[in-house]
Amino acid sequence: MNKIFPKNFLWGAATSAHQVEGDLNNDWINWEKENAERLAKGADEKWEKWQQEKFPEMFDSQNYISGRTCEHYSRFEEDFDLAKSGGHNAHRFSIEWSRIEPENGKFDEQEIEHYRKVLIALRKRGIEPFVTLWHWPNPVWVGEMNAWANRETVKYFLRYAERVFNEYEDLVKFWMPLNEPSTEVSLGYLFGQQPPGIRSKILANAAFKNLMQVQKDVYKLAKSISPDFQIGCSHFMFDIRPYKNLPWNIVAAEVMDFFGNKRFFKAFSDSCDFFGVQYYQPFHVNFKLGGIFFGLFENKKIIKKQSDLGWQIFPEGIYNVLKKAAKNGKPIYITENGLADSTDGYRANFIREHLEYVQRAIAEGMDIRGYFHWSLMDNFEFVEMRGFWPRFGLIEIDYETLERKPRPSFYAYKKIIENNGLE
Ligand code: BGC
Repeated sequence: MNKIFPKNFLWGAATSAHQVEGDLNNDWINWEKENAERLAKGADEKWEKWQQEKFPEMFDSQNYISGRTCEHYSRFEEDFDLAKSGGHNAHRFSIEWSRIEPENGKFDEQEIEHYRKVLIALRKRGIEPFVTLWHWPNPVWVGEMNAWANRETVKYFLRYAERVFNEYEDLVKFWMPLNEPSTEVSLGYLFGQQPPGIRSKILANAAFKNLMQVQKDVYKLAKSISPDFQIGCSHFMFDIRPYKNLPWNIVAAEVMDFFGNKRFFKAFSDSCDFFGVQYYQPFHVNFKLGGIFFGLFENKKIIKKQSDLGWQIFPEGIYNVLKKAAKNGKPIYITENGLADSTDGYRANFIREHLEYVQRAIAEGMDIRGYFHWSLMDNFEFVEMRGFWPRFGLIEIDYETLERKPRPSFYAYKKIIENNGLE
């Protein structure tokens, strides 16, 4: 064993409520119902031929309705048993605001008890909880007042956060108030690809400001409740690099890095104790009219090895983004890293190769304290409302029977955890 991780390194996987729990009533649920047909019809334009052939479910409107997902809400004990059997000593999940506060100011005591049980179930198994308070959906009443485009939402979110902090103070140390605020702002408020489906620079700007404000306020609030709380912020980090080192692409990569990363660090790093790095793929910036960022940049797919979503597999990228995040001087947890891989052909190597680079970053002195694979199990992939076909799980879900089957990569990851290192 030559690549050992630090003692007390946290190993686990991540999920989010909307993607695994099932039977929710929030603003995204309504949007799914209204848009499912349109999304199914648009699949032939959105996805490449090989993807359409491999995953014909994308043409079925049911693919876009989250429904019961994995029924994790009632089967969390079983799922945590599996996580425990895979050696996990930490788990990241989200509390669903719409369950806790289904109506403005009315807190649901039963749901508060539900999440207490979830937390106790983790603690009993010796699994450290990392709790996200907002992994994108909002209660319906918040959606009706334009969610994060409305300044009032900051005040309401604080009230919800205060209640949750007080309820679970003795059970939780690590909190992540917001999951990837920048992603939801760009996909939900600027490009309209996911709820609330808005396309407006002005509203996107307002949402970003409000989310920034809420992180600041929640941070202060958390510290006033318990100085022991560790508050994180999380960011989706592309490994941004200029395609072919062409001069205009070098400039474009700088611009994208500014809007994609630096602006986030500037806005958020004073209001967190640790940094949650979420890394999936590189972005080889090529300047092109009609590209995805600002209509100008496209991601050139120069790496042949790609996931089912067509994302390039580039383990070195995790090292590059860790280096950037480490400049903020905060401890780092990798709070998401994974791939859609229905046959599990790549996942075990993906994990091992990414961890090799994480280990290298640690050996160079970066303060990295944990790794959470995305995801514990297959789930409803709600980013850009892609639906059920992308399979991100260490554990496979049979959506007919909801049977859970750990994939070979689950055991490969388990071995790394048991050794606390790579062979
Ligand atoms: C999100 C997850 C999502 C994953 C894969 C992240 O940006 O936080 O909810 O499933 O990416 O797309």
